[in-house]
This record gives sequence, C-alpha cells and structure tokens, in this order.
Amino acid sequence: MILYDKQNRAFVLGGKNYSYIMHVNDCGFLQNLHYGSKTEIGDLGYLISHIGSKYAPVKSDLNMDCLFDVMPSECGSYGRGDFREPTVVIERADGASMSRLRYASHKITNGVYNIPGLPHARSGGQTLEITLKDDFSPVEVVLKYTVWDEYDVLSRATEIRNAGKESVKLNKAFSFCAELPEADYKMLRLHGSWAMERMPEWNSVAHGVARIQSLRGASSHQMNPLTVLFDGEPSERTGECYGFMLVYSGSFAITAEKTYFGYTRVQGGINDIGFRWELGGGESFYTPQALLCYSEQGMGELSRAYSDFLRERIIDPTFVKKRRPIVINNWEATYFDFDTEKLKSIFDAAAPLGIDTFVLDDGWFGKRDGDTSGLGDWFVNEKKLKGGLKAVAEHCGKRGLKLGLWFEPEMISEDSDLYRAHPDWAVGKLGQEPVRSRNQLALDFTRKDVVDYIFGVMSDVIKNNGISYVKWDMNRPVTEFYSNTLSAERQGEFAHRYILGVYSLAERLTAAFPDLFMEGCAGGGGRFDAGMLYYFPQFWTSDDTDAFQRALIQWGTSVVYPVSAMSCHVSVCPNHQTGRTTPLSTRGNIASLGAFGYELDLTKLSDEEKRDIKRQILDYKRIDALVLNGDLYRLIDPFGDKWFAEMIVSKDKTEAYVVGERLRGVPNDITRRIKLDGLDPDRNYTVEESGVTASGKSLMRIGLVLPSLADYESFAWHLKAVK
Ligand code: GLA
Repeated sequence: MILYDKQNRAFVLGGKNYSYIMHVNDCGFLQNLHYGSKTEIGDLGYLISHIGSKYAPVKSDLNMDCLFDVMPSECGSYGRGDFREPTVVIERADGASMSRLRYASHKITNGVYNIPGLPHARSGGQTLEITLKDDFSPVEVVLKYTVWDEYDVLSRATEIRNAGKESVKLNKAFSFCAELPEADYKMLRLHGSWAMERMPEWNSVAHGVARIQSLRGASSHQMNPLTVLFDGEPSERTGECYGFMLVYSGSFAITAEKTYFGYTRVQGGINDIGFRWELGGGESFYTPQALLCYSEQGMGELSRAYSDFLRERIIDPTFVKKRRPIVINNWEATYFDFDTEKLKSIFDAAAPLGIDTFVLDDGWFGKRDGDTSGLGDWFVNEKKLKGGLKAVAEHCGKRGLKLGLWFEPEMISEDSDLYRAHPDWAVGKLGQEPVRSRNQLALDFTRKDVVDYIFGVMSDVIKNNGISYVKWDMNRPVTEFYSNTLSAERQGEFAHRYILGVYSLAERLTAAFPDLFMEGCAGGGGRFDAGMLYYFPQFWTSDDTDAFQRALIQWGTSVVYPVSAMSCHVSVCPNHQTGRTTPLSTRGNIASLGAFGYELDLTKLSDEEKRDIKRQILDYKRIDALVLNGDLYRLIDPFGDKWFAEMIVSKDKTEAYVVGERLRGVPNDITRRIKLDGLDPDRNYTVEESGVTASGKSLMRIGLVLPSLADYESFAWHLKAVK
C-alpha cells in the first residue's frame, strides 16, 4: 500500500511486514525516515519531527547544502555537500557534474513499472514514481518504488531523463539508495569461484565503504549480485535484516557506506567502473531493478520472502510451478566423445528408469571435439551424429524422451567458420591480441546484427529438431569492454549494452518458443541471479556435484534463491571435480533439494544402481511439488557443523521433507537432536520412515534424534500431518 500524506509531505509505503517512509523536507530534498518494522500512520509526525529536525535542513535556506552529508537521502547526488558516494553522476556538456536533485512531482499507479529491455517484476503491486529535478541542468531523476501487500519485497529502479536538448553523460547510474539507521551491521557476501559458488561470508560493516562487485561482464561465480545487512549476529530464526538484490546479470556493484553519523547508505546497480553513457536530449536511461527485502525474523524468513517473490513475480509463470523435466545430461558421461550409437545406448538405459528428458551437451555442432574450436557454428556435426539431430530426436522420441540441447550463444572460437567470416564480431579491438579464456572469445552482443544472427541459427535448430529444452551456457568472463562498432564516446556503454544484448536474445527466444524450457548455466553457477531467472526457471547450480561440496553450495544458494531454481544432478563417483566417493543415496538426497536429474553414464550402471535410481526418481516425484511450492527451512549449517540439514514444508503445513547428511564423523559421538521448523505446532505429524508421531510443537521444540551415520551418509524423512 502506498499513501501520500499531504500535510507532512510524506510517502508511506507498506508491504506485508515492513514500512518504508520518506519525506520531502523544507528544502525539497527527499529523505528517508524509516525502513524496517511496520509502523502505524500515527507515528509519522514523531518520525518527521525527530529525523527531520535533527538530520536535515529545516529552513528553506539552501546555504545549508552541506547538511546533505548527514541526511538519509533517497538519491545521493554529487558535488554539492553530500560527501558520501553518489547514486547518480551526471556530467553536463560544459563538463560540470555537480547536481542538486529536489522533489518536483510524484505519481501513484496500480501495477508494476516496465523497464525497457531489462528483466523486472512481472505483475501486481502499486507503484510510486517520484521525480526529482536538478537545479542546474534539465535532467530529471525518477525514483521508482513498487510495493506488494503480500510480500516483504520492495522493488526499486531509477530512470534518468534528459529533458534538455544537449547530450549529457551518465558516469554513474545506480538503481537504488537506501539508508539504514545506526546499528552494528554484519554484511553478507556470497562469494566463490568455479565449482565453489555462493559461499556465505559475513563481515562487520566498518566506517567507510564496503564494496562488492563484478567486472566480468557477468554477475559471476566470484560475487553474487546481492548483499544482506544484519543488525547484530546473523541468525536463521531471529533478528532484523535487510536484503539488497539486483535483477541484473552484468558487471554490478553494491556498496555499504557507514558514515561518521552512524547511518549506513546501501546502494547498487550497474558497475560504475568504466561506465559512461551518453544520454541524448529527450532520452531516458533505465537502470536495472533492485529487490529490497526486510525480515524481522532472521535469515530464514528473508530467504522465504525472496523465494516466494522470485517464484511468483520474476520467474516465468508458464514453467515456475510446473513439474520439471527429470533430465539425463551426457556431459560427464561422454564429454566430447560421443556418436549416435552411444547416445542411443544412453536413451535405452534412461527410459526404463523414469527419466523423461535427454539433454545433449557440448560437442554436437561444428568441429567440436574439444574446447579449442567450433563455438559459433551452430550446425550439427553429421560426422559425429549420423542422420543429424533429426535422427537423435527420433531415437529419443522412440524411447519416450524429450530432447534438450546445449548452446553457448554468446561465444565464438577463433577456429570456427563464424570467426573466419566475421572476426570483427568478437569482443575486443580488431588487430589487438585478444584475451582468451577456455580457448574462446565472447561475441559482441552489443551488436544487433550479431544477436540477430545467433537468434536465427538457434531458432532453426530448435524448430527443425523438436527441441523442448535448451541449456544456455556461458563459459568465460567478458574482458575487453570494446566494440568495433561503437563510437569512441560510447565505448563506456559496452558492458551494459552487452548484457542488454543477452537479455534481448533470451527475450526473443522465449517469445518465439513459448513452450521451450530454458536452463541457464555459466561454467556451472557463474551467472545465477534474478535477472537470469526471469528467462530461465532453473539454473545449473554448479559443475561441482559432489554430495559434500554440493550441500554447501546449495545451502549458500538457498540464502536468497528458491530451491526450485537450482538444477541439481546426481553424478558418478569418484566425483569428477573433487575425487570424493559418496553413497548414491546421498547424491540423490542432496539433488532432491532442487530440480532433479542425472549426469553420468547410465550404460555403466550395475543392476542394483539401476534399481536405486528408479526408486530415487519415484521418490522425487513424491516431493517435487514441495520443491516447487514449499517453504525452505535451513536446520543445520554445514559450514559450522558436522551435519547438513534442511527441510521443505508445504504452504498448508500438511507435509514436510527433511534431508540430512553427516559430514564429518567423530567416534563415540553424543546423541544429537535436530529441531524441525515451519510445522504447525498444533498438529500431529507422522514421520513415514520411523513411524514416529508427534506434535509439530514437540518436533520443533524438542526435536528428533539424528540417526547414527558414517561420513557422507544421509537420511530423507517424509512427514505427513495426521488427519
Ligand atoms: C560448462 C558447464 C558444464 C558443461 C560444459 C560443456 O562447464 O557448466 O555443465 O555444459 O560447460 O563444455
């Protein structure tokens, strides 16, 4: 709900459990009064007199600009007395960049706002647009806020309009600026690397600027585009915290700046390093959207709030709640070494197990027997695949399997027909030694002709071969931010234009093939973000499928992303990434906490393994509705404990699924109880595996005894409410 209190010139925004209140002060500056716990309207006067008089100019005396520095502001401006990092920096034709942004007007409408070319919340809510005008230029900055009564998520974005005739340069254009009141915050980073994505790390927010970012042209394995600020020691069940997530997949930055005055300014958006956007007269620039989330019941509640929001407002509603394909992917089974006969043997083995989709990974196209060639030549390699993809699709069909296909649309190998024909299509300056990574270059997706071409060839393959599933990979960072077609003044637009090109291809494919299911991937989970989830209902979580490492990665990912968005496969042992051996049952249990599938050579399984896999798939089909719709509760943190445990509870609290894994055994261990969560305290539940029946209250307060297990052994419990 959004209210405008005319008398106090205040905007009161409210979601399920939070309020966000702003006020236009006497000098016309838009300042934040409160973000956090839900407040009553009656408290407004108190807030204004308290925060307004103490922290901001009270008279219409603009000589007091320097008080900017202590004002909790909704948009930090540059060069006029606010000495914290600015939210936007606008350089005018005369080279001056100082601006003073003051309230001009506002508008409240029903529904969400659209951001041209960028993924964003799809529907519902109520939107407030506040226009600030610069005193020194014809530039207007429009701050956009959407709130939903049913969520704790608030969406933010900024539009910068050049209402003048002359061009201006945007040297920084962040999406949001939020000011949190004085507290001893801990800040979350989901950092990592290949095969170790989204490792949670908490640090104190000290005075000065803490910055997380990517300069890789993608959101990256190394740093996920979000942070959480927790008031005090982070906890799953209690405490106040704020999440800041970007719906953006390119180079980003998020900063938290604690000032001498105690306030912490958190802001973020497109990475401003190297960014420079020429905004012509009459043009608008739209920033990516940010999703702010507030929880007063710890990290668990914050995760569930984000999860619900992403499932219901960001991810494509066509697929998000639909039963997901159970996939067999051939990557770890064959790598580049396969032919039609080999694939047929995989289909023969897959069909009786209950698998329904075969995904043909890297190597089916061009001259691609290794990772040094072929990218860009999206034409089937008939030498490898006799009869082409048509024959593969036909054999799949005979076995009742659907066919999925791997692409790496943004990439090009120097040893490819495409590169030989269009060397200027690669990112980087023609004639200058390019930066190679995995022996490949990135295609210049700022160019429409390049995106058009890739759309054309991908569409042909999809259309002509009955492809129902695409795995869209991206296996290197983008380095030289340079296009051979952009003018010198516009090279600073490269990184953002690149990701706009990526989104445009995803958008065109989803529009042209509304039934096509797309999974995202980036060398594992290197671009697992809300922007990608808008187009891909699920993302390959990590190339690391080891059941120990995966427990950590999935835990970290679940901090803000829904379990149904995590693509999780059972692979072979010893594990190809870690060399570790874990029981097949544990690999299955861990993978069941996501969108389930297999990534191993089914033709090499023993009869016993085949029986187990058949059972696993049947078991998964009993709980996949929980994975798609349920609430996740993290029970035992594998980063600090000898166990991992999570549970998913159905929304109506009649059903739950608990998975635990023993990580590091010690001899003669104590008897240990696990306290469940999220159940209805007043109902009785039966644990199917043990027959134990107890009240939700007992299961949550007293707990169940953990079984005695060896390292990497696991359990899965199904709980049903007793009628
Ligand atoms: C990346 C992906 C893998 C696989 C390979 C193919 O590493 O994460 O799943 O598709 O590329 O080259």
